[in-house]
Amino acid sequence: GGPVNVYGIDCGSSGLKMLDGLPHVGEIINGDDVERVGRLLRWLRDLADDRAARYSEVRASTIVEYRTLADQPAEKRIFVLVDGMSAFREAYEYSKLSALWDIFLQLATDGRPLGIHLVVSGDRPNSVPASLLASIQRRLVLRLSSEDDYLSMDVPKDVLGQASPPGRGLLGNLEVQLAVLGGNSNLAVQAREVHKLSEAMLRQGVERAPQIERLPDQVDLDILPAGSPDLPVIGVDDETLQPAEILAKGPLLLAGPPGAGRTVALVTLAYALRRSNPGVELIYVGSRRSAAASLKLWDRSVVGADDVEETIDELVDYSTGTPGKLAIFIEGLTDFTDTGAESGIERLVTASIKADQWVVGESETSTWSSAWSLAQPFKSGRRGLLLNPGDIDGDSLLSTSLGRISTDFVPGRGYIVGRGKVRKLQVALPPENRN
Ligand SMILES: Nc1ncnc2c1ncn2[C@@H]1O[C@H](COP(=O)(O)OP(=O)(O)OP(=O)(O)O)[C@@H](O)[C@H]1O
Ligand SMILES: [Mg+2]
Repeated sequence: GGPVNVYGIDCGSSGLKMLDGLPHVGEIINGDDVERVGRLLRWLRDLADDRAARYSEVRASTIVEYRTLADQPAEKRIFVLVDGMSAFREAYEYSKLSALWDIFLQLATDGRPLGIHLVVSGDRPNSVPASLLASIQRRLVLRLSSEDDYLSMDVPKDVLGQASPPGRGLLGNLEVQLAVLGGNSNLAVQAREVHKLSEAMLRQGVERAPQIERLPDQVDLDILPAGSPDLPVIGVDDETLQPAEILAKGPLLLAGPPGAGRTVALVTLAYALRRSNPGVELIYVGSRRSAAASLKLWDRSVVGADDVEETIDELVDYSTGTPGKLAIFIEGLTDFTDTGAESGIERLVTASIKADQWVVGESETSTWSSAWSLAQPFKSGRRGLLLNPGDIDGDSLLSTSLGRISTDFVPGRGYIVGRGKVRKLQVALPPENRN
């Protein structure tokens, strides 16, 4: 049927993995890898939209017509294999990921004429839900565990039985034996045959299918655009892989567990703002000595409760000047609780928020709940940068659910929360932290 690319979502026992080396196989993604499953499905959705528009331009109603009418014989059919439908449903159908499930169903309905085909496998008749079954054109039924199962799959029950060999099946009215590469179902032999096939395809010049990109673990701030004064760019957005911006106004709660990259993020935020708004003054307030405190970046840096207490009136006065002329970065905010500086910090935060300055409050996730009065303005602002959060951190810190959290713990990976909206990102590294 012409050139083909293949993608796989493996929710079973990694049986699809061996296809990964084939040039026309773009990617076999593990079903747990929510990020990349999401990126694959959104990419396919966009591709379907793009194809629908291109096909209608030349009045083609199918990919076959399009190839001729538009003189594009290389337009590829795309097969998306999902191995282990039960597990895939369990993870995506009724969970916070149901938006991805909807894309999946939509592809099943609209994809066929556009050359996007889903192939799903299930171990029981009901592993494929009715909503999906309706769009499935052909079924291959292999040996099932009970006679009733054949009936519910709508095939005769007396063709296949316990004695049927693996790979024996019913395809419409035909009884078939599925071929395996090299004529041997031993996995090692299969893998070797796949490898040989792969080399033969490459020799013949088969083009490599596009891969599904991943969010990088490290990004230098320097390579990203600066953004605008109110919206500095601080990292890379997970969904689009484009620059991620953050609103630089009012309170921002910066939290994460130990080692999540909070200090680095605080410095990144400051650098990012300086890049997007060179005239801004950057003020650092820290509860104790930290690598960040002595950076040349700061126009002012005040460290320790005693020094803070001494300078606070001056800072409060200063911060009520022109809106947006300065930004305050408080590292270890909750440590000021029960110190002489507590009420001063409170005044500074309230006054600067009122004057429309950016006020970033940093502390480890577990400390926010016991710092009621210091935490309050940040919590009620409902804006934050949550690094490597746990399931309920969004709800408890910012009254905003983060949805399903993926478990890929990388320093600097987190979520920007802004007034109910949530974006996942990788925070960029500031110039100091390049390695
Ligand atoms: N955005 C990032 N990208 C890549 N690596 C990062 C990033 N942020 C932090 N790291 C790595 O993680 C290490 C710890 O970062 P950092 O000191 O900022 O964590 P922290 O959350 O402030 O830790 P602590 O709980 O000790 O205060 C850094 O030295 C760096 O190697
Ligand atoms: Mg730190």
